[in-house]
Amino acid sequence: MQSSETTQPARQRQEPSWWRHAVIYQIYPRSFADSDGDGIGDLQGIRDRMSYLARLGVDAIWLSPFYRSPQADAGYDVSDYRDVDPLFGDLDEFDKMLSRAHESGLKVIVDLVPNHTSDEHVWFKEALASPVGSPARDRYIFRKGKGANNELPPNNWQSMFGGSAWTRVDGTDQWYLHMFDTKQPDLNWHNPEVHEEFIRTLRFWLDRGVDGFRVDVAHGLIKKEGLPDAEEGQVTNVDGDRGPMWDQDGVHDIYREWRKVLDEYDGDRSMVAEAWVSPERMARYIRSDEMCQAFNFPYMMTPWNADAYRQVIQRSLDEFGKVNAPSTWVLSNHDVTRHATRFGMPNPGTVLRGISLHTEQPDEVLGLRRARASIFMTLGLPGSAYIYQGEELGLPENTTMDDSFRQDPTYFRTNGKDVGRDGCRVPIPWKAKAPAYGFGPDNSANTWLPQPDSFARYAIDVEEKDPLSTLALYRRVLKLRQWYDLGNGEVEWLDAPHKDVLMFRNRDVIAVINMGDQTVPLPDLPILAQSQPETMDGLLPGNSAVWMFAHKR
Ligand code: NOJ
Repeated sequence: MQSSETTQPARQRQEPSWWRHAVIYQIYPRSFADSDGDGIGDLQGIRDRMSYLARLGVDAIWLSPFYRSPQADAGYDVSDYRDVDPLFGDLDEFDKMLSRAHESGLKVIVDLVPNHTSDEHVWFKEALASPVGSPARDRYIFRKGKGANNELPPNNWQSMFGGSAWTRVDGTDQWYLHMFDTKQPDLNWHNPEVHEEFIRTLRFWLDRGVDGFRVDVAHGLIKKEGLPDAEEGQVTNVDGDRGPMWDQDGVHDIYREWRKVLDEYDGDRSMVAEAWVSPERMARYIRSDEMCQAFNFPYMMTPWNADAYRQVIQRSLDEFGKVNAPSTWVLSNHDVTRHATRFGMPNPGTVLRGISLHTEQPDEVLGLRRARASIFMTLGLPGSAYIYQGEELGLPENTTMDDSFRQDPTYFRTNGKDVGRDGCRVPIPWKAKAPAYGFGPDNSANTWLPQPDSFARYAIDVEEKDPLSTLALYRRVLKLRQWYDLGNGEVEWLDAPHKDVLMFRNRDVIAVINMGDQTVPLPDLPILAQSQPETMDGLLPGNSAVWMFAHKR
């Protein structure tokens, strides 16, 4: 434990902080709602639909980047951290959207992308125009190439999107590092100017009133001294050594610095880490003087298996408990195959990416059935849960998108071997009968990615009218979670009637999630909610779940 444990940051004085138990809804602004008909969602679209989010019963929204950007990685390539890209609106519209959210009782978290900038950021342009060894170059990671003519990259690191993580500066012996696309040069976090710039950015958004930040690639900002070659297999799993570019101890100093800035502000501002590491390592990011939460990716990667979930849940609770931090529970986001689709595959924990026209297709009915059951686990656990836009509709991945529509740099950098993440980023269906399923204003049929025909079945106007819809189920379960205060509760494991069943108690609720195919007996207790509409008669069918009241009435 660090010595700063003794500093007693503000959050300890105001327990329980809102983020300890919050349900946070991820908005991917490009695909949520389009107010101007250009086929790309925007901030006004979000403002106009705020009542939908308030009605859903979530506590906060997290917005993926809407900053100025050439959009080489859908906005995760930022060219100006303190302005809104005209695609999404402007700062005035941001303020209006934020006020509407606050009036509706919703907190707002924005994305911070500190590992890299866009190559069109003024700093990178300046770096390229400046000599080797200049202060402008020192803000990034430039190195001399290897080989007789410097024709080889400085080390063997691979970009997360495929290919080498280095690009040569034309006509010189210098290369620059980019752990993602060529258009996303990595920043040098040993440079004090980089620190100052991000503190300015934090303050800029905090002053405008945001309630927190989601920190992109939080485990990547510091690279191992000397940039040594990676060893075989080092970047493939969250468990074990992640390699010299990830999870270096130095990253924690940065988060301590930021935590102090956040604590200067009122209102309990929060920070959540996107760090693809094991629960043990993740806990280090959420020590009391660093971030508040970290996305639980090991939970997201778990196969549809009761024992595997029991283990990952207990491991998360143990590890996060040691640093007195809440766990998060998350099954989908804009980087992985939607879980309603994953759960319809024969081997769910292993298909975070890659289902396409060229591969085996999911069983949509089974996937949806399991997705509905899974919320009885995710929303029944104490801590904070994340919902990715559309999952409340049971929305599947677009697994049949023609490759000609693809935009994810992963697709291009792997020559199509990895189809990338476009399938989970498809615009949301609001109205079954409208062009573009109501994503845009009246009669606009534009969508930046194509929606499959099946989206008509999942449209919000259809689900709002159907008391048995997935949307109705989410609303009910979210209300019960709040009523029984499950976010602040504790897990007590109960003896399940079968090895494929996960059964736990949290406060006055008993969650029973049947991950097997066979029907199992239920305890003789009142049912509060059930994932499938069939009458139960004391039995729980396969791939379904219930919440029961823990006491006989
Ligand atoms: C993680 C983000 O979630 C992803 O969408 C992005 O491509 C990479 N970080 C790079 O910023």
